[in-house]
This record gives sequence, C-alpha cells and structure tokens, in this order.
Amino acid sequence: MSFANNARMMKVLSSVYLQVFHLVLLLPFSSENNSCQANGTRGAPWLWRCHHTFSKPFQPEKSFIYWQGQDNSGLVVYMYNKGKPDLKHQSQSFKNRTKIFPDQLRDGNLSLVIEELILKDDQTSLEVIFNSPPESTKKLCQTTVCVAAPFQEPNLEINQSNKTATCSTKGGYPKPEIKWTSQGGQNQSERTLEQHEVQTTMTSEEDGTYSTSSTANITGSQRVTCRVHNPTSNQTLSVTKDTTLETPDKRHDLGIGIGFVVALVCVVALIVILYLHRSKCFLLLSF
Ligand SMILES: *[C@@H]1O[C@H](CO)[C@@H](O)[C@H](O)[C@H]1NC(C)=O
Ligand SMILES: *[C@@H]1O[C@H](CO)[C@@H](O)[C@H](O)[C@H]1NC(C)=O
Ligand SMILES: *[C@@H]1O[C@H](CO)[C@@H](O)[C@H](O)[C@H]1NC(C)=O
Ligand SMILES: *[C@@H]1O[C@H](CO)[C@@H](O)[C@H](O)[C@H]1NC(C)=O
Ligand SMILES: *[C@@H]1O[C@H](CO)[C@@H](O)[C@H](O)[C@H]1NC(C)=O
Repeated sequence: MSFANNARMMKVLSSVYLQVFHLVLLLPFSSENNSCQANGTRGAPWLWRCHHTFSKPFQPEKSFIYWQGQDNSGLVVYMYNKGKPDLKHQSQSFKNRTKIFPDQLRDGNLSLVIEELILKDDQTSLEVIFNSPPESTKKLCQTTVCVAAPFQEPNLEINQSNKTATCSTKGGYPKPEIKWTSQGGQNQSERTLEQHEVQTTMTSEEDGTYSTSSTANITGSQRVTCRVHNPTSNQTLSVTKDTTLETPDKRHDLGIGIGFVVALVCVVALIVILYLHRSKCFLLLSF
C-alpha cells in the first residue's frame, strides 16, 4: 500500500470515527417534541440562552463543547475544543453566522448567537454537549427554535357582481391562519364567517415563504374584516372594508382618468405660458 493510500485510509477512518463519536454522544435520546420553545424572526439574531453551573472549576484546555442538533441529526452548530473554537466540522448552513461568548465560558455561560435566522432553521432541535474529562459528559440546554417571517399588509378587494371579497398577502412564514368577520349593518354585531363561506388557497413559494388568497361570500354584509395571523410571531394583520364601496379596480381606473386629465391641463397650460413668454421676448427684442 502506498503512502497516499494510507493517508486516504486514515482520513476515511478518522471521519468514520467522528461520526461514530457523534452517534455515541447522542444515544440517550429524549422522546422528541415538536413544539417550539424559542421563536425567532428571519434575518434577526437569535440568542440561545444556556447556563451551566460547573461542579469543578472550568478548565478550557481540557474541555470540549458541542452545540449541535438533537436526535442524531448530524448538525454541528459550533464546536469548542481544548480552549478554542474548532469550526472544521461546522455544518455549512451555520458557517459565518454563529458566535459564543468565550470570555464568559468560565462563568458557565454557554449561550450561542445565530446572527441571522433563516427559514431553514425552523423547527431545529438543538442541544449542548459538555465534556470536561473528570466530569461525565453532559447534555444541556435542549431547545427547538421556530422561525417566522412577517406577511405583507393584506390586500382586500370587493367584487360587487360576485358578492365576494378577496384577501391576499404573501412573503410570510409559516402558514398563516385566515379569519373573516362580517358586520351586517350599523347596529349589528360582528360575526365570524364559517368555513363553508370562505375558500382559502396557500401557495408555497420558491424562497420557502407562503402566499395566500382567501375569498369570502359577502352577501348581506356591509363591512368585512380579514385577519391574517402568524402562529409563530403571534402577529395579526387585519384589513377592513365597506362592501358597498366600488371595487378597487374601478377606483384605480378613475384615478388614472383623473391623472390623465390633470396631466393634459398641465401640458396645455405650459404651452400657453411658453407661447406668451416667447411672444413677450419677441416683442422686447423687436424694440
Ligand atoms: C411536549 O411538549 C408538551 C407541551 O410543550 C408537554 O406537555 C409534553 O410533556 C412534551 N412531551 C415530551 C415527551 O417531552
Ligand atoms: C451570556 O452572555 C451573553 C452576552 O454577554 C448575554 O447576553 C447572556 O444573557 C448570557 N447568558 C447567560 C445564560 O448568562
Ligand atoms: C465565511 O467568511 C469567509 C471570510 O469572510 C469566506 O471566505 C467564506 O466564503 C464564508 N463562508 C460562507 C459559507 O459564507
Ligand atoms: C411559538 O410558535 C409556536 C408555533 O408556531 C406557537 O405555538 C407558540 O405559541 C409560539 N410561542 C410564542 C411565545 O409566541
Ligand atoms: C398573542 O397575542 C395575543 C394578543 O395580541 C395575546 O393575548 C396572547 O397572549 C399572545 N400569545 C402568545 C403565545 O404570546
């Protein structure tokens, strides 16, 4: 066997070793739980709080700490090895967006910051593995992070001839809950529209966000409200419209019409002014 082959063999063995090592660390699973314990926003930093009270003084040069995915996911968020960060095996998706607080490790602060959450981080279950030889290996600070992206202000259009209202929005995550309420007249109370009065479609876009369009029957209604609720951020966007107003389409056309007339008047006025000015100059010149 050549030296090159031996070197390659060593490399394979060491990577196998690493994987097995990872496996063994993860063996005592807790049953998984999909509920989010920590909710963050796409593009915003997220602090994964973690504190551990050491039973013996912290010895950096003897310790390794893994911030990783739960349940043998193979995800390496960060690794601290014998006194310094060791990011060789950090998962690609976490490169350049994680940091710990090295000066505070000795106080038991094992918190980690993900600088910019991405949608791919949604529902990621994480844990810290702490090992400092005389002490036994410890699994700490298990959590599941959920990521939200805010929806755009919903647009509400009334269609008089079909007696429907359509509420649409996009750019948000995860799937929103859409609720409609309707008010029959001035003194009547609001009621929530039932499922059979509403038709909602959700589309998953390439960037992972959702677009949604919801159409409600507005027969007998004078005002409708559409509410878009993001379950993770707990943000609700709402828009209300008088169903007796003309459809936005018509108003749009009217707007264009008015704009055109105004522009026409301006152009005519400009021509007249220029004409007057020129004839005035002409008069002055001829003197
Ligand atoms: C999962 O989470 C719920 C509520 O967050 C909790 O009541 C339940 O005990 C958890 N289950 C496990 C197996 O951890
Ligand atoms: C750890 O340190 C960071 C940065 O100073 C701080 O924001 C965080 O609250 C600390 N966390 C704990 C658990 O002490
Ligand atoms: C991380 O940052 C370094 C230096 O700024 C850069 O060379 C590298 O391509 C970045 N990696 C990723 C995955 O963005
Ligand atoms: C976090 O998000 C989950 C699911 O998206 C939701 O059930 C939970 O109420 C949210 N927690 C907080 C504190 O808003
Ligand atoms: C969500 O928001 C509502 C009202 O804004 C509030 O009453 C409720 O407690 C919030 N839920 C969570 C989980 O934060």
